[in-house]
Amino acid sequence: MYDLSGKVAVITGAASGMGRAAAILFAQQGAHVVLADLNAAGGEETAAEASRAGPKCVFQRTDVSQEADVASMVGRAVSEFGKLDILFNNAGIGGAVGPLENIAVEDWDRTQAVCLRGVFLGIKHAIGPMRANGKGAIVSTASTAGIDGYSGLHAYCAAKAGVVNLTRSAALQLACDFIRVNCIAPGGVSTPIVWNGTANRDAVEGMLLNAQPLPQVGQPIDIANAALFLASDAAQFITGHTLVVDGGATAGALVTAPKRGGQPTGYGAQRTFAGPSYELG
Ligand SMILES: NC(=O)c1ccc[n+]([C@@H]2O[C@H](COP(=O)([O-])OP(=O)(O)OC[C@H]3O[C@@H](n4cnc5c(N)ncnc54)[C@H](O)[C@@H]3O)[C@@H](O)[C@H]2O)c1
Repeated sequence: MYDLSGKVAVITGAASGMGRAAAILFAQQGAHVVLADLNAAGGEETAAEASRAGPKCVFQRTDVSQEADVASMVGRAVSEFGKLDILFNNAGIGGAVGPLENIAVEDWDRTQAVCLRGVFLGIKHAIGPMRANGKGAIVSTASTAGIDGYSGLHAYCAAKAGVVNLTRSAALQLACDFIRVNCIAPGGVSTPIVWNGTANRDAVEGMLLNAQPLPQVGQPIDIANAALFLASDAAQFITGHTLVVDGGATAGALVTAPKRGGQPTGYGAQRTFAGPSYELG
């Protein structure tokens, strides 16, 4: 159902985390992948692993904030493998962090340049080859921080909200060309971007375990699986959509403290029906 045999994909941010997992998964499903990243060592290593998992995959050093780099990245897919079917705009950084009044303009701009301009440039340069191909699938990595506000992540929130709505406007324009445009909004996922140094991995994973209703740590493969679905023909009637993959974090507020396999505690534990408040005493 999620077979990508014969397809050609470009994945940005493919040297690490979600992009790395997606590159290997897409190759396992039969796609040639152009892996794009600033990190040449990680990108080359991942391209070799993806090639062992499936058809030939190549690394292209790319800064997604630079238009010439993005044009070359897309051009590599066409020159190396003859066409472009799938673009996964996934590269990102945490960017400017901290109180609004302390954010330097250049840090704000760099955050937007990587997280939002990079997605715009990817879509812009994918259109030509995808039109020539008769169809295409574009998937971008937004974030739950593009849906909800996160104090201290202002620039990132603004950029990711931009990705969510650019996805919609691009989907509207490109639907007539059978180019689908969707994005994924991950919640907390265990990757180097959140470890902030590998020494912190265990501590961060301990925090992520309790960061959402599902009592498990979000992993790169969870996002790669969502990207595979949206990129595949199984999603042929889906466009303009933001697929939230967050273990239920944005589903709503937990008014009872859940106990696995047991009874809830807190509000709702003592009674099964809440009537008029004057009866509650
Ligand atoms: N990990 C999370 O909890 C989480 C949650 C929501 C969204 N995201 C988003 O997921 C995406 C993937 O991040 P990840 O968690 O796998 O982190 P990661 O750091 O493991 O991977 C991000 C990759 O992007 C690359 N990159 C950064 N700037 C680049 C640039 N200018 N040009 C090209 N490549 C660049 C990095 O080198 C890295 O390989 C990002 O867009 C991130 O914002 C992550």
